[in-house]
Order: sequence, then structure tokens, then C-alpha cells
Amino acid sequence: MTKIQRYLRTVKPYPKQEEFFEAKTTRVAYGGARGGGKSWAMRTKFILLALAYPGIQILLLRRTFPELRENHIIPLQKALNGIAQYKDSTKEFTFKNRSRIKLGYCLNESDILQYQGQAYEVIGMEEATQFTYMQYIALTESNRLSGNTEGFVPRMYFTCNPGGVGHEWVKRLFIDKRYNENENAEDYTFVPSTVYDNEYIISKNPQYVKTLEALPPLRRKAMLYGDWDAFEGQYFPEFSREKNVCRPFTIPEDWTRFTAFDYGLDMTACLWFAYPPDRSRLYVYRELYKPNLVLSEAACQIRELTGNEKIRWSVASPDLAGRRQDSGKTGFDIMSSFGLCGVMPADNTRITGWRMIRELLRDRSDGEPRLMFFESCTNIIRTLPKLTFDPRVSEDVADSPHELTHAPDALRYGVMSMGFIPGEVRERAVPDVDPFAEWREKKPVSYVRFLES
Ligand SMILES: Nc1ncnc2c1ncn2[C@@H]1O[C@H](COP(=O)(O)OP(=O)(O)OP(=O)(O)O)[C@@H](O)[C@H]1O
Ligand SMILES: [Mg+2]
Repeated sequence: MTKIQRYLRTVKPYPKQEEFFEAKTTRVAYGGARGGGKSWAMRTKFILLALAYPGIQILLLRRTFPELRENHIIPLQKALNGIAQYKDSTKEFTFKNRSRIKLGYCLNESDILQYQGQAYEVIGMEEATQFTYMQYIALTESNRLSGNTEGFVPRMYFTCNPGGVGHEWVKRLFIDKRYNENENAEDYTFVPSTVYDNEYIISKNPQYVKTLEALPPLRRKAMLYGDWDAFEGQYFPEFSREKNVCRPFTIPEDWTRFTAFDYGLDMTACLWFAYPPDRSRLYVYRELYKPNLVLSEAACQIRELTGNEKIRWSVASPDLAGRRQDSGKTGFDIMSSFGLCGVMPADNTRITGWRMIRELLRDRSDGEPRLMFFESCTNIIRTLPKLTFDPRVSEDVADSPHELTHAPDALRYGVMSMGFIPGEVRERAVPDVDPFAEWREKKPVSYVRFLES
């Protein structure tokens, strides 16, 4: 028996997965809930296609590299041992029949451009709701014959859960089935599955089913039963009180701390962040959330709450760089007069910032999210899950009700100031500013002088 025959003997799809394998349309989506055997179905389908159609070019995408590695590269290496060659530099499996499965990820909107001008007969978007509509459209342009498989009809496969930046377009095409004039209803198939369709989990990991059953109501509806209406309009369905909120603990000395704040007279929202030396996780450990503070008062309260903690850097609303007409000073000058000396204007690139938060809220490969909030930070915990999509600007957060935006803006400023994503390989040097040093060293603070000037 050849290795291929031996492999094929191990492939035993469950009934829903079989339906997915056999679907004949050019756009086939599978899943819609957690644990329904989506990743298994996608990669197994692609192996079968690669073996059946010599020379076929297949592209399999996930949003981030760690997910790609855990969900596909490692299992594919196991399954294809002796059947296809894996090349790490290009992340592709090449079969003896010249078929190729190329794996990729698209963290940023523009990462999709690398596939432009290429030809793949089959494209798979794993967790399609993590991709934007523009990314999907860009990929459809590469979904064409590569010249090796005459007669093959190019097609795309999707797996998905409700929620995420792509919730709207996936729901429209596969759940609501509302099509525009360039789309044909008969091209689309959706095979719903839930964890109850995955015998492997039911028998080998019943604890996982219990975890899904114990989720808070809306999340349970979406993740256990595949209810696409549960998250309607919510910007961060990834946020989960159960997962992203923790009991406060004493932050070890060697952790890096920084602060970020969104200033407005209607609300001062300041967040304190900390992360361990291995940069594996980011904690928001304190918040200041108060209306009607003038900037000098806000600066003083931030200092007081900081106490003797060493803050490596601090960022604040970039509009504080503007000069006040009355004093001729900028907001940063004023903060500096009150002992917050090196505060930097925050990067206010909104959509990139929201995307970074979304990545951080999701689970790492160890099943834990990378962003955690101490339960004492009640306002960021309250407002973040209430944010909704801006109906006018694609992928942005709605600006109303305005009260909801202050703490999330501070969070976004903080996340954007780091220059790296916890747990990701990409790392840049972090700024070493210590804006509270002057005050901590008890140098004279020109508080009174400022009031007099
Ligand atoms: N037909 C099958 N035969 C054997 N094992 C399977 C089969 N289908 C799924 N599994 C196993 O069940 C587990 C969960 O499957 P998988 O990771 O594909 O689910 P998923 O829907 O992608 O989950 P998630 O929602 O967490 O992404 C994995 O260990 C997978 O190998
Ligand atoms: Mg999966």
C-alpha cells in the first residue's frame, strides 16, 4: 500500500463534512459555529483536491501566522509526511503530481496584494469572518486557472464563525443569501455545522462542549448554535468577560508599564498597561474615568494614581498638541508643567488600531487571549463590547453614543504605542521615555507657577 493509499484510509469525514466535500458550487462555506470540524474539513478537502487534480494550485489563508501554523502547517506536515514536500521559506506543500498547496496569512489589509496577479484554481479562506470584504474581493481576482488543470472550475471555500470584521459580507452571501446583480444565488452553498456534528470532540473532548455550553447567552447562541444575529452590529464580538477579564494581581517589578489617555473635558479616560518581559500578554491594570477635569487636574490625578510605579512611556490624544489660544501653551506643555514630561502624541490611525485590538482579544494558540483587563477597570470593560460599526465608514467604530468611545480610544492609543503585538514574532524597540520621572524624583513641579502664569 502506498503512503497516499494509507493516508486516504484515515480520512473519515463526518456527515456534515461529507456534504462540504461534495458541494459542487463555486463558493462553498462550512461551519458557522465553534468546533464543527471546520479546519479539518478545509485542509482535508484541499489534500484530496491536490491528489485528484495534478498540477492544481491551491491557496489556503488564515488571518494570522500563529493560527496558520497551529491549524494547518503542523497538521498538514503530519498528514502529508512522505506525500508532499514542505518548504518553509515559501510555506508551500508540493506534491509529486506538481499540485501545490500554498499557505498564507493576511494580518494587514494590504497583505492581500501579494496574491494579486497570481492564479489559484482553489482558494480557501479559513475563518472568513476575520477578513474584510475588500480582501475577499481581491482574492476572487486570483481565483482562476493556472494553466495546469484544463476543465477545472475555479472555486473558493470558506469556513466561518459569526462575529468579526467580515461578519456582514459572510452573513449576506451565505446566511441571508442576499445577492447583488453580479452574484448568482446558485453559486453559493452553506453547510452549517456545530460542535455536535464533530464526533471527535464529543467523544474525546467533552469538556470543550461544556465550555461552549457555559458561555454567556449571546456568545453561546453564536458559538454553540451558530446564530448569526446574536452579534449584529457589535464591533468586538471577540470580547468576552469570561476570557478577557481577570482578578487583579500584584504586577511583578520587572514588567513594563505604560499609560495612554484620551483627554476631553467631557471625559478623561486614562488606562495603565503592563506586560511581562516575554511580551506574551498585555494587561490593562488600572483606569481613570472622570468627567469635567481640566487638563492640569487630569495630569495630577494620573500622577497620584501612578504613585511610585515606573512608567516607561505615555501617550495622549494627539489633538493636545494644538496650542491653546488663552495661554499659548499646548496640552503637552500643560501636562509637562504638572510633572508628566515626556507624554507623546498618540498614533490616531483608527482602523489599524481597532484591528490591533481585535487581534489581541482573540485567543492565542494556548487558548488564552493576549489582552486582559483587571476587573477593577469597569469602564473599559463596559464600553468595549458596546461599540458598534460605523454605518458610514467601513470597518470603523461608530462615534455615537459618544460616551462609549473614550475608554476604547485610550485603549487604541495604548495598543498602537507598543510597536509590537504580544505573542507575535514581530517586535520593535519600545520607547523608553518615563514621563513621570521628574515627578517621581520629587523634582520641583511647577504646579503653582503654572497657575500663576
Ligand atoms: N472527520 C474527522 N476525523 C477525525 N478528527 C476530526 C474530524 N473532524 C474534526 N476532527 C478533529 O476535531 C478537532 C476539532 O476540529 P477542527 O479544529 O477542525 O474544528 P473547528 O471547527 O475548526 O474548531 P474551531 O471553531 O475551534 O476553529 C480537531 O482535533 C480535529 O482534528
Ligand atoms: Mg478551526
